[in-house]
Amino acid sequence: MDRTLIMFKSPNLILAGFGALAKMGEEAENLEAKKALLVTDKGIVASGIAATVQKVLTDRKIGVDLFDQVIPDPDIACCQLCIEKAKAGRYDLIVGVGGGSSMDIASVTSALCTNPGGINDYFGVNLLKKQGIPTFLVATTAGTGAEVTPNAILTDTEAKLKKGIVSPYILPRAAVVDPELTLSMPSRVTSFTGMDALTHAIESYTSLNATPLTDMYAREAIRLIGHSLRTAVARGDRRNARYDMSIASLYAGISLANAGVGAVHALAYPLGGQFNVPHGIANGILLPHVMEFNAPGDVCKFAEVARLLGERVEHLAPVEAAFRSVSAVKNLMRDIDMPLTLTELGVPPSAIPEMAAASINVTRLMANNPRRMTAKDSEAAYAKAF
Ligand SMILES: [Fe+2]
Repeated sequence: MDRTLIMFKSPNLILAGFGALAKMGEEAENLEAKKALLVTDKGIVASGIAATVQKVLTDRKIGVDLFDQVIPDPDIACCQLCIEKAKAGRYDLIVGVGGGSSMDIASVTSALCTNPGGINDYFGVNLLKKQGIPTFLVATTAGTGAEVTPNAILTDTEAKLKKGIVSPYILPRAAVVDPELTLSMPSRVTSFTGMDALTHAIESYTSLNATPLTDMYAREAIRLIGHSLRTAVARGDRRNARYDMSIASLYAGISLANAGVGAVHALAYPLGGQFNVPHGIANGILLPHVMEFNAPGDVCKFAEVARLLGERVEHLAPVEAAFRSVSAVKNLMRDIDMPLTLTELGVPPSAIPEMAAASINVTRLMANNPRRMTAKDSEAAYAKAF
């Protein structure tokens, strides 16, 4: 390996493992927080998780107000509502609880309480000028990694586009990853959020921006997912498997935050935007096909992915070992009942050219991909997924 310059961003504090949520209460007290805004969605309220998080804070005599109007793939209007509530309430702590959507809304709300102007002024990279209100991000799934990534994604409904605010000020004061909160997650959600985490790990590991430091996190994430995702899906109450998946998702998020992701995510976005395919499912279906295309771009790393996923590759030629990573991912997906084709999701093959053109335009991600991908290559990868 050449002597890569390492730049590495992460939150001030990571609390991870069983008991992390209780520790968060202590941290809130250390911050001398008096009044917190809990940002979440109605599903998390119905599951009782919002009340659990709220109790951790009220037990420490911290007042808590609730904003429970986060929607999936939240738009600018949804975020604006949260910002208005936060500004009116003069909170000294914002706690985002959920998957990526609630965590992203909490981060943007925190930043917009201290930076002047509106949300539209900050789409882009490094445009925020000031630290926001202290934020805790509590992950309730094991997949998005949003608790450790310096970007927040919102939907611009007018432009029909997803837009990102990228800034170190989007990183939380504390990332809270407590596997206890994932024990009751349904197996279908466990499958597709787990595949999102695996995609983060494999794409960031093979990204052209990977460094030796991100490689450490990505490798361990892939190994943990290979070891424990099947069990987490088959028996959600197995605490060891849930622990492994929570840690794997965190590590994959840290690796993604610093090394970036590539063509799988670029090809997944149009599936989400045009056909509402959940992010983890879109990634999962595309992952093996894009890996098959990418493997010649970094034979050594794809061979290592196969080994980390439990394949016996010692006796194989490197190229053969690299392609074993593709079958390993397909086998894993079968075992966790993931949909394997876009046909099953009702996506028409006629959509391929338009989706391929859109994917190639995600240049921010395509630039990281280990093999240069043209529109024709993208079309071929989509076609294999039918
Ligand atoms: Fe993702």
